[in-house]
Amino acid sequence: SKPLSIAVAGLGTVGVGLLKLLAANADIVAARAGRPIVVGAVSARDRGRDRGVPLEAVRWYDDPVALATDPGTEVVVELIGGSDGPARALVEAAIAAGKPVVTANKALLAVHGAAIAEQAETRGLPLAFEAAVAGGIPAIKALREGLAANNILRVAGILNGTCNYILTVMREQKREFAEVLAEAQALGYAEADPSFDIDGVDAAHKLAILAALAFGRPVDFGAVHVEGIREVTALDIALAGELGYRIKLLGIASRTAAGISARVHPCMVPAAAPIARVDGVFNAVVAEGDFVGRVMLEGRGAGAGPTASAVAADLIDIARDRHTPVWGAAGGALGTAPSVPMDRH
Ligand code: HSE
Repeated sequence: SKPLSIAVAGLGTVGVGLLKLLAANADIVAARAGRPIVVGAVSARDRGRDRGVPLEAVRWYDDPVALATDPGTEVVVELIGGSDGPARALVEAAIAAGKPVVTANKALLAVHGAAIAEQAETRGLPLAFEAAVAGGIPAIKALREGLAANNILRVAGILNGTCNYILTVMREQKREFAEVLAEAQALGYAEADPSFDIDGVDAAHKLAILAALAFGRPVDFGAVHVEGIREVTALDIALAGELGYRIKLLGIASRTAAGISARVHPCMVPAAAPIARVDGVFNAVVAEGDFVGRVMLEGRGAGAGPTASAVAADLIDIARDRHTPVWGAAGGALGTAPSVPMDRH
């Protein structure tokens, strides 16, 4: 049957990873999507650079926003990043043009997700973002689908691989933050602005998205309490260890009598707890539902392969016409659901 033709904005690590996945697993993807998924158009800076993937047959655009109106494109994939600028302009233009969007952009969704979701829902268009939270871990699907029948009481996790790597190496090698930072950044997981990683902002972006899904309504990103790992010392980690704890940067969102509490900060967790044993660049997402109890998913939260895996899963859903309301059924009419105030402790 007729292939699903997609446009990919951004050919960095994740964009190239997606092209490689769609080539390597073309048969599996076509079988599960019900039709082949082909890349018809791309936008990226530097056309001349060899990315190790064949790009002769695709339509090239220098301006990513122009992908929204590429005549052959059915679905737009946004892999540019950043809460504003070309990523936001492209996503809004694609929705306005009546095209489903798949994005890995956590900053965009955390800051403007409510407005963008409303635009998509008004037009009945899918807006899919499995890759925006915890890379390859199917956290969005787990919350929306697998746990759909539960009242979610709490959602939490290790949501930044760069920080988890730094804290792990500081503990194992008894070294200081500043020394390990450059090594973590060399892994290629760090944000374009690395302070987003170490100051907890990236984890907070992901937590805001998880909280919106878990509690069925957009959250006010400005009200999330955010604290990173700059002040954590090797001595803190060693002392915590003597007391039987590990220090992890956690994002935690829960229902309280006052509304929803969402916060990111370094936490002492008992060394025997499952989440304490998630080390290195791995992420973990924990959800607690009233009937299911506690569920924990662990996996790679960043990188070409894991992130491409999540983007491609969204494309398969769209090819199959599987379409969930943006913040899940619990959100109801997004345009009218009030944003929940969040405390700041
Ligand atoms: N900078 C992020 C991390 C990448 O280190 O986890 C994935 O969002």
